[in-house]
Amino acid sequence: MIDFKALAEKYDTPLYIYDFEHIANRYEELKKAFSGKKSLICYAVKANSNLSVISHLAALGSGADCVSIGEVKRALAAGVPKYKIIFSGVGKRDEEIEEALKEDILLLNLESEAEMDRVEQIAKRLQKEARISIRVNPNIDPKTHPYISTGLHENKFGVDIETAKRIYIRAKNSPNLDPVGIHFHIGSQLTELEPIKEAASIVADLVRSLKAIKIDIRFFDVGGGVGIVYDDEKTIDPADYAKAIFSTLHGLDVTVVCEPGRFMVGNGGYFVTRVLYEKVNEGKRFIIVDGGMNDLLRPSLYNAYHKVEVVGREGEESEADLVGPVCESGDFFAKNRLLPPTEPGDLVVVHSAGAYGFVMASNYNTRPRPAEVAVEGDKERCIRVRESFDDLVRLEKMCL
Ligand code: LLP
Repeated sequence: MIDFKALAEKYDTPLYIYDFEHIANRYEELKKAFSGKKSLICYAVKANSNLSVISHLAALGSGADCVSIGEVKRALAAGVPKYKIIFSGVGKRDEEIEEALKEDILLLNLESEAEMDRVEQIAKRLQKEARISIRVNPNIDPKTHPYISTGLHENKFGVDIETAKRIYIRAKNSPNLDPVGIHFHIGSQLTELEPIKEAASIVADLVRSLKAIKIDIRFFDVGGGVGIVYDDEKTIDPADYAKAIFSTLHGLDVTVVCEPGRFMVGNGGYFVTRVLYEKVNEGKRFIIVDGGMNDLLRPSLYNAYHKVEVVGREGEESEADLVGPVCESGDFFAKNRLLPPTEPGDLVVVHSAGAYGFVMASNYNTRPRPAEVAVEGDKERCIRVRESFDDLVRLEKMCL
């Protein structure tokens, strides 16, 4: 049990708290599901890129899936071995490609022929052979929120199967490209297995046809996307997930790579905020807290549901909106939620905030971003100090 009161006393609010035991258990659960098979779990750093979170996972053996050279540098700084780092993303700058090649990471994941041209040119200049994989868009509906759905042709990600085939042949014939991997990722917060299995099966067929023309794919990257429980969603069992993927791979000798983000850290994170006061506008009840949409954007951006809990309060619940102090109507954590009466100073815990929480925070309204704390058993430590006003204006003051 996390002592939210004690931690809020010590570190103040708003505050992010991560349960490192939960995170380790999630990693182990997935690793176990893949046991006995060639596999590599590359934690999707974008979900929560705190150095201590990455190094906690790296210590367990996790690799890293990165979408910018900044994330690659974070992974390296956190102790992820370079041979377990992959670099994906729809658009990469030349400097990012160059640095990734110099660092000699496991794979550059390419999303277009134009990008492949750039990588080839840069690798040639550096006299290197770039290990690449190509992101294939299998045109599968992942049945998730449209903002986090990525595997349909209408989405900007990857290339279609025919283009992939053509550019794999080009890559094979280039002395500066080594096409060793294939990749897909159909969306995030997936709660159904079928779309993943279908996508894997389409991509596995492509790998077989590449094999027939002597293009030997060794890394089969199934992306991330395994969903978590925010409310009462059904979720995908890791063992079923692994089984479904391997069932599509008959005749192929590949290492399965997966890139879970949310699965690993989502339910291990809590956003803790304090009640400032309540007010009622023409019968509508508002609970105003000191955290805002700048700290945790998911409810505002996706209308995402997060469970909220008022610590230590029980009693007659009535509907309320839980809102922050930011000057936007979209600044809310919960709408029309049944909540007990609160007093100023009460703590509100927003659950499932470990993924896409702090990383999407901003300084909007000149609000310093929260501190982050890791809890492991009965020990706790600060893993990012709260920003100060001086931190916020430092780079501007340099220009005065
Ligand atoms: N691999 C690729 C290529 C991705 O684009 C993503 C997420 C992942 C892996 C990790 O997905 P996960 O396992 O976490 O579902 N901000 C949104 C989620 C955006 C996901 C972007 N890509 C949210 O708060 O729901």
